[in-house]
Amino acid sequence: MERQNLVATASAPRSATIQSLTDIKDFVEDMYEAIYRDGIAVARKALPVAWADTLNHDVAREFLRALFVPGGTAARGYNRYYFEPYIELTPGFFALAGHPIIIALSRRMFGDDYRILEWGADLPLPGAEGQWPHRDFAMEEFTLKNRRLTSIAVNASCIDVAPNNAPFQIAKGSQFDDGADFYGGDQADPAAQGMFPLDDRRREYEARMETMLGERGNFSVRSALTIHGGSASETNNSRLRPTIVMSVVSPDDRNWVSGPEELARRDDPHIPRIRLSREYLDHLERDHPDLVRHLSYEVVAPTTADLPPYHTWHTLEGLIMGNDPTAKRP
Ligand SMILES: [Fe+2]
Repeated sequence: MERQNLVATASAPRSATIQSLTDIKDFVEDMYEAIYRDGIAVARKALPVAWADTLNHDVAREFLRALFVPGGTAARGYNRYYFEPYIELTPGFFALAGHPIIIALSRRMFGDDYRILEWGADLPLPGAEGQWPHRDFAMEEFTLKNRRLTSIAVNASCIDVAPNNAPFQIAKGSQFDDGADFYGGDQADPAAQGMFPLDDRRREYEARMETMLGERGNFSVRSALTIHGGSASETNNSRLRPTIVMSVVSPDDRNWVSGPEELARRDDPHIPRIRLSREYLDHLERDHPDLVRHLSYEVVAPTTADLPPYHTWHTLEGLIMGNDPTAKRP
């Protein structure tokens, strides 16, 4: 198979699909180059449509459980939510985290000590407003100095996204742009830059934004520094439309931890991690030790039945305020 046919970036024709994993090394290399060049790359038809359908069902069920618990979800503006479902209740996690492309790409980008530390879902509901163009975190000094990424965000839509149903937008190639005048820094890292471009710079990014329509079975891999945003929902479609967010980090990332002992020592609930039960961890350790080695996790219950009500720690201050990151919180 031609190498070009294996890699499909957002602008490639839809016929560019993954047909075989035999040439995975070249495929991953092309994705790696696309991420450094464009800030994003897409793997098409990497998982079965049925995988997305099952995940859609599981995430929707868990979202409703999280929505009715105080602190169970993080607000992302009007009618838009983020939350982190338990992986054992959304077992689609397993196929994505253990996907040969994700494993090989994580190794290529971060070496063998990468960690998977986030499994969340973004849910724009009908009427959700378009998001302010943003980075998901401020660029840290390591990336600024070395122009090296320390994390990737993997996105997989659970439905085929229609143009009026809040599609994802991104300004390709903006991942290393200077954000010294962006609004909203990082209190934990005073050397870090801002997250939200203002005024002319905002308009400049909005003009550059490309729309990407998520499809079941595809996943994208991007730097969360690439300026992006969810667009407005202009549909009354009653179906939920979750997009999965899975984050992978390198040992150079501030959120990387060696293992659960270090996580406990650091005693900061805001450090992202996968929360699971001892029962499920025992199962993973027995049957999938390679995956466990790459998980940043915390055991929060003895069994699946004992898992506590959802609590989402992961907040993005500017986006809580909806379409104005500079507004003060009520
Ligand atoms: Fe974002």
